[in-house]
Amino acid sequence: MKLPISAQQFLAEYWQQKPLYLPQAIPDFQSPITPDELAGFALDADIESRLIWQDKEVWAQADGPFTAASFQRQDRWTLLVQQMDRWHPSIHQLRLSLSFLPNWRIDDVMVSYAVDGAGVGPHFDRYDVFLLQGLGQREWRLGPTCDDSTPQLGGGGLNLIPEFEPESTFLLNPGDVLYVPPGIAHWGIAHGASMTFSIGLRAPPIAALLARRTDAVLEHLSSTILLEDGATATLESRPGEITASHLSNARDAVTNALDALDDGRWLGEILTEQGDLATDDTAYFSASSYTGSVRLSAEARIAWQECDTDTDLNAFINGECITVSANALPYLMALCSGDAVVHHALNDACPTLSNALSECQALVDDHSE
Ligand code: SIN
Ligand code: CO
Repeated sequence: MKLPISAQQFLAEYWQQKPLYLPQAIPDFQSPITPDELAGFALDADIESRLIWQDKEVWAQADGPFTAASFQRQDRWTLLVQQMDRWHPSIHQLRLSLSFLPNWRIDDVMVSYAVDGAGVGPHFDRYDVFLLQGLGQREWRLGPTCDDSTPQLGGGGLNLIPEFEPESTFLLNPGDVLYVPPGIAHWGIAHGASMTFSIGLRAPPIAALLARRTDAVLEHLSSTILLEDGATATLESRPGEITASHLSNARDAVTNALDALDDGRWLGEILTEQGDLATDDTAYFSASSYTGSVRLSAEARIAWQECDTDTDLNAFINGECITVSANALPYLMALCSGDAVVHHALNDACPTLSNALSECQALVDDHSE
């Protein structure tokens, strides 16, 4: 994706802060699927989809799967299909267009089709999104920053806001992109039949991180180690009081335990964790004697981190952490970039990684999808 400014400037001045219009970010972009093909995916019970329309000024929605008859309607309707990157190789490629962001930050590509004049209503999302216009035109109206205190129209999980005053408007043509940071109110309205590809960058809730880090530490913390308070014990002047120094002593003990026993793996594990893996008929790759090239499957999520030793790395594959030799580094980086690697070279350089990737069904033949 071509940014109108340097990637460094984007990250410093816009990322998670301000919207940015990126005209012709993907020059000559043509939607890899037709509206009919998108509707076909929404008939599948394994694929999450929603229809949204306005019924006498009231926003209404229905969850998929749908039937062909569901789309025979006269009102202004929008079809949203989630995680299309799992199901369509060219849509999966769009994940790779955000090479200035870590691959593990990219969540999914949702595709929407809207008939003339339709949209999903003014709302805000809690994650960053790059809205890539795929077919026809869509007018995006951007409003103020919203949060939990912003009044919302009840239910449905759409975060619709009843009062919306646009502050800026952009008309997107195929290949144009609008970056919208979390919380910014937005409303896309189709001009003619329109398809948009939303590349979403969901981040884990802090609550989930805290729970995971705590669980990871508790695995190594013996329940026989008790709080010590020798250093803070003072003569009690008011019976029954828990003093500020008692509290800070307990806080310090908890923080010290977290710092001492946290091996840092929980972050990679949670970031690469998968929801339900689809049961499709993809030819996952496993034969170690294979001489061709392999790459990551559309569903696999991997990342890596340095270890305390120079000779090892932690590799994360679909939520599992394994320690691999540092020889694996070029292969991990290539796979994270969406590139193919020669399978026997990967196997020779780092059989542990090669075997773990095969066991997790994370590799596919380079020509299979
Ligand atoms: C749409 O494509 O119409 C909705 C996408 C969004 O607002 O995040
Ligand atoms: Co949105």
